Amino acid sequence: MRSPNLVKMVGVVLLAVEIIVLISGYRFGANGLSMNYYLSSCPLAEPIVTNTVIRALMADPTLAAALVRLHFHDCFVQGCDGSILIDSTKDNTAEKDSPANLSLRGYEVINAAKKQLEKQCPGVVSCSDILAMTARDAVYLAGGPLYSIQKGRKDGRRSKIEDTENLPSPTFNASQLIIKFRQHGFSAEELVALSGAHTLGVATCRSFKNRLSDEDPTLDEDFAQTLSETCSSGDDAELPFDATRNSFDSLYFNALQRKAGVLTSDQTLYADTRTRNIVNGFASNQPMFFRRFQLAMVKMGTLDVKQGSRGEVRKNCHKIN
Ligand code: HEM
Repeated sequence: MRSPNLVKMVGVVLLAVEIIVLISGYRFGANGLSMNYYLSSCPLAEPIVTNTVIRALMADPTLAAALVRLHFHDCFVQGCDGSILIDSTKDNTAEKDSPANLSLRGYEVINAAKKQLEKQCPGVVSCSDILAMTARDAVYLAGGPLYSIQKGRKDGRRSKIEDTENLPSPTFNASQLIIKFRQHGFSAEELVALSGAHTLGVATCRSFKNRLSDEDPTLDEDFAQTLSETCSSGDDAELPFDATRNSFDSLYFNALQRKAGVLTSDQTLYADTRTRNIVNGFASNQPMFFRRFQLAMVKMGTLDVKQGSRGEVRKNCHKIN
Protein backbone atom coordinates (compact mmCIF):
# COMPACT_ATOMS: atom_id res chain seq x y z
CA MET A 1 0.00 0.00 0.00
CA ARG A 2 1.11 3.61 -0.54
CA SER A 3 2.92 5.31 2.40
CA PRO A 4 0.65 6.52 5.26
CA ASN A 5 1.52 10.22 4.74
CA LEU A 6 0.68 9.98 1.08
CA VAL A 7 -2.61 8.21 1.68
CA LYS A 8 -3.67 10.80 4.27
CA MET A 9 -3.31 13.42 1.57
CA VAL A 10 -5.70 11.60 -0.74
CA GLY A 11 -8.85 12.86 0.97
CA VAL A 12 -7.56 16.42 0.78
CA VAL A 13 -6.62 16.02 -2.89
CA LEU A 14 -10.05 14.63 -3.76
CA LEU A 15 -11.81 17.48 -1.94
CA ALA A 16 -9.58 19.97 -3.79
CA VAL A 17 -10.50 18.32 -7.11
CA GLU A 18 -14.19 18.69 -6.19
CA ILE A 19 -13.74 22.38 -5.43
CA ILE A 20 -11.83 23.06 -8.67
CA VAL A 21 -14.55 21.27 -10.58
CA LEU A 22 -17.20 23.43 -8.87
CA ILE A 23 -15.32 26.65 -9.58
CA SER A 24 -14.87 25.67 -13.20
CA GLY A 25 -18.68 25.47 -13.45
CA TYR A 26 -19.02 21.77 -14.19
CA ARG A 27 -22.58 20.84 -15.16
CA PHE A 28 -24.66 17.69 -14.79
CA GLY A 29 -24.17 15.15 -17.56
CA ALA A 30 -27.04 13.68 -19.57
CA ASN A 31 -27.17 10.77 -17.12
CA GLY A 32 -27.79 13.15 -14.19
CA LEU A 33 -24.37 12.52 -12.67
CA SER A 34 -21.84 15.22 -11.80
CA MET A 35 -18.38 15.48 -10.31
CA ASN A 36 -19.51 17.77 -7.48
CA TYR A 37 -22.86 16.12 -6.79
CA TYR A 38 -22.47 16.12 -2.98
CA LEU A 39 -20.63 19.41 -2.61
CA SER A 40 -23.54 21.19 -0.96
CA SER A 41 -25.67 18.25 0.23
CA CYS A 42 -22.82 16.30 1.86
CA PRO A 43 -19.50 18.14 1.46
CA LEU A 44 -17.57 15.59 3.49
CA ALA A 45 -18.82 12.60 1.50
CA GLU A 46 -15.54 12.11 -0.40
CA PRO A 47 -13.17 12.38 2.58
CA ILE A 48 -15.43 10.16 4.70
CA VAL A 49 -15.35 7.41 2.07
CA THR A 50 -11.63 7.80 1.41
CA ASN A 51 -10.74 7.69 5.10
CA THR A 52 -12.85 4.56 5.53
CA VAL A 53 -10.99 2.86 2.68
CA ILE A 54 -7.59 3.97 4.02
CA ARG A 55 -8.40 2.51 7.44
CA ALA A 56 -9.71 -0.74 5.93
CA LEU A 57 -6.67 -1.25 3.68
CA MET A 58 -4.23 -0.49 6.47
CA ALA A 59 -5.83 -3.33 8.44
CA ASP A 60 -6.17 -5.65 5.42
CA PRO A 61 -4.56 -4.68 2.09
CA THR A 62 -6.31 -7.56 0.28
CA LEU A 63 -9.54 -5.57 0.53
CA ALA A 64 -8.42 -3.36 -2.38
CA ALA A 65 -9.11 -6.27 -4.74
CA ALA A 66 -12.44 -7.00 -3.08
CA LEU A 67 -13.68 -3.41 -3.48
CA VAL A 68 -12.75 -3.16 -7.16
CA ARG A 69 -14.50 -6.47 -7.88
CA LEU A 70 -17.65 -5.45 -5.99
CA HIS A 71 -18.04 -2.37 -8.20
CA PHE A 72 -17.58 -4.46 -11.37
CA HIS A 73 -20.14 -7.06 -10.29
CA ASP A 74 -22.54 -4.26 -9.38
CA CYS A 75 -22.24 -2.42 -12.71
CA PHE A 76 -22.39 -5.44 -15.05
CA VAL A 77 -25.74 -6.59 -13.63
CA GLN A 78 -28.61 -4.10 -13.92
CA GLY A 79 -26.13 -1.20 -14.08
CA CYS A 80 -24.30 0.57 -11.24
CA ASP A 81 -27.21 0.64 -8.81
CA GLY A 82 -25.96 -1.09 -5.67
CA SER A 83 -28.05 -4.18 -6.48
CA ILE A 84 -25.12 -6.41 -5.51
CA LEU A 85 -25.48 -5.26 -1.89
CA ILE A 86 -29.12 -6.31 -1.42
CA ASP A 87 -29.67 -9.31 0.87
CA SER A 88 -31.91 -12.20 -0.14
CA THR A 89 -35.30 -12.43 1.56
CA LYS A 90 -37.72 -15.34 1.93
CA ASP A 91 -39.43 -14.24 -1.31
CA ASN A 92 -36.37 -13.28 -3.35
CA THR A 93 -32.91 -14.74 -3.96
CA ALA A 94 -30.67 -11.76 -4.59
CA GLU A 95 -27.65 -11.36 -6.89
CA LYS A 96 -25.16 -11.81 -4.08
CA ASP A 97 -26.27 -15.43 -3.57
CA SER A 98 -25.46 -16.43 -7.14
CA PRO A 99 -22.47 -18.85 -7.42
CA ALA A 100 -20.63 -16.13 -9.41
CA ASN A 101 -20.86 -13.78 -6.42
CA LEU A 102 -20.27 -16.04 -3.44
CA SER A 103 -16.60 -15.09 -3.11
CA LEU A 104 -17.26 -11.34 -3.20
CA ARG A 105 -15.89 -9.62 -0.09
CA GLY A 106 -15.57 -6.15 1.38
CA TYR A 107 -19.22 -5.51 2.24
CA GLU A 108 -18.11 -4.36 5.69
CA VAL A 109 -16.15 -1.46 4.17
CA ILE A 110 -19.25 -0.23 2.31
CA ASN A 111 -21.28 -0.56 5.52
CA ALA A 112 -18.68 1.36 7.54
CA ALA A 113 -18.69 4.23 5.03
CA LYS A 114 -22.49 4.26 4.86
CA LYS A 115 -22.74 4.40 8.66
CA GLN A 116 -20.50 7.49 8.79
CA LEU A 117 -22.34 9.12 5.89
CA GLU A 118 -25.76 8.53 7.44
CA LYS A 119 -24.55 10.26 10.62
CA GLN A 120 -23.20 13.21 8.66
CA CYS A 121 -25.97 13.64 6.07
CA PRO A 122 -28.82 11.13 6.42
CA GLY A 123 -30.45 9.76 3.27
CA VAL A 124 -28.18 11.63 0.86
CA VAL A 125 -25.32 9.44 -0.40
CA SER A 126 -26.34 6.36 -2.41
CA CYS A 127 -24.84 2.93 -1.89
CA SER A 128 -24.01 2.72 -5.60
CA ASP A 129 -21.93 5.91 -5.31
CA ILE A 130 -20.16 4.46 -2.27
CA LEU A 131 -19.26 1.37 -4.33
CA ALA A 132 -17.87 3.57 -7.12
CA MET A 133 -15.87 5.78 -4.73
CA THR A 134 -14.41 2.89 -2.72
CA ALA A 135 -13.29 1.14 -5.93
CA ARG A 136 -11.61 4.34 -7.14
CA ASP A 137 -9.83 4.81 -3.81
CA ALA A 138 -8.80 1.15 -3.65
CA VAL A 139 -7.14 1.38 -7.08
CA TYR A 140 -5.16 4.47 -6.09
CA LEU A 141 -4.18 3.25 -2.63
CA ALA A 142 -2.92 -0.02 -4.13
CA GLY A 143 -0.56 1.99 -6.38
CA GLY A 144 -2.79 2.51 -9.41
CA PRO A 145 -4.00 5.69 -11.13
CA LEU A 146 -5.90 8.46 -9.32
CA TYR A 147 -9.01 9.46 -11.21
CA SER A 148 -12.14 11.50 -10.59
CA ILE A 149 -15.62 10.06 -10.94
CA GLN A 150 -19.08 11.50 -11.30
CA LYS A 151 -21.58 10.92 -8.51
CA GLY A 152 -25.37 10.98 -8.22
CA ARG A 153 -26.21 7.33 -8.96
CA LYS A 154 -29.44 6.17 -7.39
CA ASP A 155 -29.86 2.74 -5.83
CA GLY A 156 -32.00 0.19 -7.65
CA ARG A 157 -34.93 -1.75 -6.25
CA ARG A 158 -34.28 -5.03 -8.05
CA SER A 159 -31.72 -7.71 -7.22
CA LYS A 160 -32.41 -11.14 -8.67
CA ILE A 161 -30.11 -14.14 -8.91
CA GLU A 162 -31.11 -14.80 -12.53
CA ASP A 163 -29.74 -11.40 -13.64
CA THR A 164 -26.19 -12.51 -12.79
CA GLU A 165 -26.12 -14.41 -16.09
CA ASN A 166 -24.81 -11.08 -17.37
CA LEU A 167 -21.46 -11.71 -15.69
CA PRO A 168 -18.65 -13.19 -17.80
CA SER A 169 -17.55 -16.72 -16.93
CA PRO A 170 -13.90 -17.56 -16.12
CA THR A 171 -14.08 -20.31 -18.75
CA PHE A 172 -14.91 -17.83 -21.54
CA ASN A 173 -12.63 -17.57 -24.57
CA ALA A 174 -11.73 -14.23 -26.19
CA SER A 175 -14.69 -14.35 -28.61
CA GLN A 176 -17.15 -14.82 -25.76
CA LEU A 177 -15.49 -12.08 -23.71
CA ILE A 178 -15.49 -9.66 -26.64
CA ILE A 179 -19.21 -10.29 -27.21
CA LYS A 180 -20.07 -9.96 -23.52
CA PHE A 181 -18.16 -6.70 -23.11
CA ARG A 182 -19.51 -5.33 -26.39
CA GLN A 183 -23.04 -5.84 -25.00
CA HIS A 184 -22.06 -3.32 -22.33
CA GLY A 185 -20.53 -0.95 -24.89
CA PHE A 186 -16.85 -1.84 -24.41
CA SER A 187 -14.21 -2.34 -27.11
CA ALA A 188 -11.63 -5.14 -27.12
CA GLU A 189 -9.06 -2.69 -25.76
CA GLU A 190 -11.37 -1.73 -22.89
CA LEU A 191 -11.97 -5.43 -22.18
CA VAL A 192 -8.21 -5.98 -21.83
CA ALA A 193 -7.75 -2.83 -19.75
CA LEU A 194 -10.57 -3.78 -17.36
CA SER A 195 -9.25 -7.34 -17.11
CA GLY A 196 -6.08 -5.68 -15.84
CA ALA A 197 -7.96 -5.33 -12.52
CA HIS A 198 -6.70 -8.88 -12.04
CA THR A 199 -3.40 -7.26 -11.13
CA LEU A 200 -5.09 -7.30 -7.71
CA GLY A 201 -6.30 -10.29 -5.76
CA VAL A 202 -6.68 -14.02 -6.09
CA ALA A 203 -8.74 -16.73 -7.71
CA THR A 204 -9.80 -19.95 -6.06
CA CYS A 205 -9.24 -23.42 -7.53
CA ARG A 206 -12.97 -23.58 -8.24
CA SER A 207 -12.48 -20.89 -10.90
CA PHE A 208 -9.53 -22.48 -12.74
CA LYS A 209 -9.84 -26.25 -12.23
CA ASN A 210 -11.38 -26.48 -15.73
CA ARG A 211 -7.82 -25.96 -16.99
CA LEU A 212 -6.36 -29.05 -15.35
CA SER A 213 -7.95 -31.84 -17.34
CA ASP A 214 -6.96 -31.14 -20.95
CA GLU A 215 -3.64 -30.61 -22.62
CA ASP A 216 -3.63 -26.80 -23.00
CA PRO A 217 -1.04 -25.26 -25.36
CA THR A 218 -1.76 -21.79 -23.94
CA LEU A 219 -0.66 -22.88 -20.44
CA ASP A 220 2.99 -22.99 -19.32
CA GLU A 221 3.93 -26.48 -18.06
CA ASP A 222 5.42 -25.32 -14.76
CA PHE A 223 2.48 -23.03 -14.17
CA ALA A 224 0.09 -25.93 -14.87
CA GLN A 225 1.87 -27.68 -12.00
CA THR A 226 1.28 -24.62 -9.76
CA LEU A 227 -2.44 -24.65 -10.62
CA SER A 228 -2.64 -28.34 -9.90
CA GLU A 229 -0.74 -28.07 -6.58
CA THR A 230 -3.08 -25.27 -5.48
CA CYS A 231 -6.11 -27.43 -6.26
CA SER A 232 -4.69 -30.32 -4.25
CA SER A 233 -5.71 -28.26 -1.18
CA GLY A 234 -9.33 -28.10 -2.34
CA ASP A 235 -11.76 -25.89 -4.22
CA ASP A 236 -11.28 -22.93 -1.88
CA ALA A 237 -7.47 -22.83 -2.21
CA GLU A 238 -6.34 -19.45 -3.53
CA LEU A 239 -3.77 -18.43 -6.11
CA PRO A 240 -2.78 -14.78 -6.75
CA PHE A 241 -3.30 -13.54 -10.32
CA ASP A 242 0.25 -12.14 -10.38
CA ALA A 243 3.33 -11.91 -8.16
CA THR A 244 2.08 -8.75 -6.39
CA ARG A 245 -1.49 -9.42 -5.31
CA ASN A 246 -1.94 -6.16 -3.37
CA SER A 247 -0.16 -3.85 -5.82
CA PHE A 248 -1.81 -2.30 -8.81
CA ASP A 249 0.78 -2.65 -11.59
CA SER A 250 1.16 -4.21 -15.04
CA LEU A 251 2.65 -7.55 -13.90
CA TYR A 252 -0.64 -9.31 -14.68
CA PHE A 253 0.05 -8.71 -18.38
CA ASN A 254 3.63 -10.00 -18.07
CA ALA A 255 2.20 -13.17 -16.52
CA LEU A 256 -0.05 -13.60 -19.56
CA GLN A 257 3.00 -13.27 -21.83
CA ARG A 258 4.67 -16.13 -19.87
CA LYS A 259 1.50 -18.27 -20.30
CA ALA A 260 0.98 -17.96 -16.56
CA GLY A 261 -2.50 -16.44 -16.56
CA VAL A 262 -4.69 -18.02 -13.88
CA LEU A 263 -8.12 -18.17 -15.52
CA THR A 264 -9.00 -19.34 -19.02
CA SER A 265 -10.50 -15.84 -19.47
CA ASP A 266 -7.13 -14.28 -18.57
CA GLN A 267 -4.86 -16.40 -20.77
CA THR A 268 -7.17 -16.20 -23.78
CA LEU A 269 -6.43 -12.47 -24.00
CA TYR A 270 -2.85 -13.35 -24.94
CA ALA A 271 -3.70 -16.45 -26.95
CA ASP A 272 -6.09 -14.63 -29.27
CA THR A 273 -4.55 -12.48 -32.00
CA ARG A 274 -7.28 -9.83 -31.64
CA THR A 275 -6.17 -8.97 -28.10
CA ARG A 276 -2.53 -10.14 -27.91
CA ASN A 277 -1.04 -6.85 -29.10
CA ILE A 278 -3.09 -4.96 -26.54
CA VAL A 279 -1.72 -7.24 -23.79
CA ASN A 280 1.83 -6.69 -25.11
CA GLY A 281 1.28 -2.94 -25.16
CA PHE A 282 0.09 -2.82 -21.54
CA ALA A 283 2.84 -5.22 -20.41
CA SER A 284 5.55 -2.91 -21.73
CA ASN A 285 3.91 0.43 -20.99
CA GLN A 286 2.40 0.69 -17.50
CA PRO A 287 1.41 4.38 -17.84
CA MET A 288 -0.61 3.48 -20.94
CA PHE A 289 -2.33 0.65 -19.05
CA PHE A 290 -3.13 3.04 -16.17
CA ARG A 291 -4.60 5.62 -18.56
CA ARG A 292 -6.75 3.09 -20.43
CA PHE A 293 -7.83 1.45 -17.18
CA GLN A 294 -8.99 4.68 -15.59
CA LEU A 295 -10.96 5.71 -18.68
CA ALA A 296 -12.62 2.29 -18.81
CA MET A 297 -13.44 2.37 -15.08
CA VAL A 298 -15.04 5.80 -15.41
CA LYS A 299 -17.12 4.43 -18.31
CA MET A 300 -18.01 1.25 -16.40
CA GLY A 301 -19.13 3.41 -13.47
CA THR A 302 -21.85 5.03 -15.57
CA LEU A 303 -23.45 1.83 -16.93
CA ASP A 304 -27.24 2.15 -16.83
CA VAL A 305 -27.35 4.55 -13.87
CA LYS A 306 -30.79 5.05 -12.35
CA GLN A 307 -32.36 8.47 -12.12
CA GLY A 308 -35.53 9.91 -10.62
CA SER A 309 -38.23 7.39 -9.74
CA ARG A 310 -36.13 4.52 -11.17
CA GLY A 311 -34.03 4.67 -8.04
CA GLU A 312 -33.67 5.75 -4.43
CA VAL A 313 -31.01 6.46 -1.81
CA ARG A 314 -31.11 3.38 0.36
CA LYS A 315 -30.95 3.97 4.10
CA ASN A 316 -29.42 0.53 4.59
CA CYS A 317 -27.32 -0.72 1.67
CA HIS A 318 -28.57 -4.27 2.24
CA LYS A 319 -32.28 -3.49 1.97
CA ILE A 320 -34.61 -1.71 -0.42
CA ASN A 321 -36.21 1.23 1.47
C1 HEM B 1 -13.07 -10.32 -18.19
C2 HEM B 1 -13.96 -11.03 -17.55
C3 HEM B 1 -13.78 -11.42 -16.10
C4 HEM B 1 -13.93 -12.65 -15.58
C5 HEM B 1 -14.35 -13.91 -16.33
C6 HEM B 1 -13.62 -12.57 -14.17
C7 HEM B 1 -13.67 -13.62 -13.28
C8 HEM B 1 -13.13 -13.60 -12.03
C9 HEM B 1 -13.00 -14.73 -11.16
C10 HEM B 1 -13.50 -16.14 -11.50
C11 HEM B 1 -12.36 -14.35 -10.04
C12 HEM B 1 -11.96 -15.23 -8.87
C13 HEM B 1 -13.16 -15.61 -8.04
C14 HEM B 1 -12.84 -16.72 -7.07
O1 HEM B 1 -12.31 -17.75 -7.50
O2 HEM B 1 -13.13 -16.56 -5.87
C15 HEM B 1 -12.12 -12.94 -10.16
C16 HEM B 1 -11.48 -12.16 -9.22
C17 HEM B 1 -11.33 -10.81 -9.32
N1 HEM B 1 -11.85 -10.01 -10.32
FE1 HEM B 1 -12.53 -10.63 -12.10
N2 HEM B 1 -13.29 -11.28 -13.88
C18 HEM B 1 -13.39 -10.53 -15.01
C19 HEM B 1 -13.21 -9.17 -15.11
C20 HEM B 1 -12.98 -8.34 -14.04
C21 HEM B 1 -13.10 -6.91 -14.07
C22 HEM B 1 -13.56 -6.11 -15.28
C23 HEM B 1 -12.76 -6.47 -12.83
C24 HEM B 1 -12.75 -5.06 -12.30
C25 HEM B 1 -12.74 -3.99 -13.03
C26 HEM B 1 -12.40 -7.63 -12.03
C27 HEM B 1 -11.91 -7.60 -10.75
C28 HEM B 1 -11.53 -8.73 -10.04
C29 HEM B 1 -10.72 -8.67 -8.84
C30 HEM B 1 -10.08 -7.44 -8.24
C31 HEM B 1 -10.61 -9.99 -8.38
C32 HEM B 1 -9.89 -10.48 -7.11
C33 HEM B 1 -10.89 -10.46 -5.95
C34 HEM B 1 -10.31 -10.83 -4.61
O3 HEM B 1 -9.12 -11.14 -4.49
O4 HEM B 1 -11.10 -10.80 -3.65
N3 HEM B 1 -12.59 -8.74 -12.79
N4 HEM B 1 -12.59 -12.50 -11.38
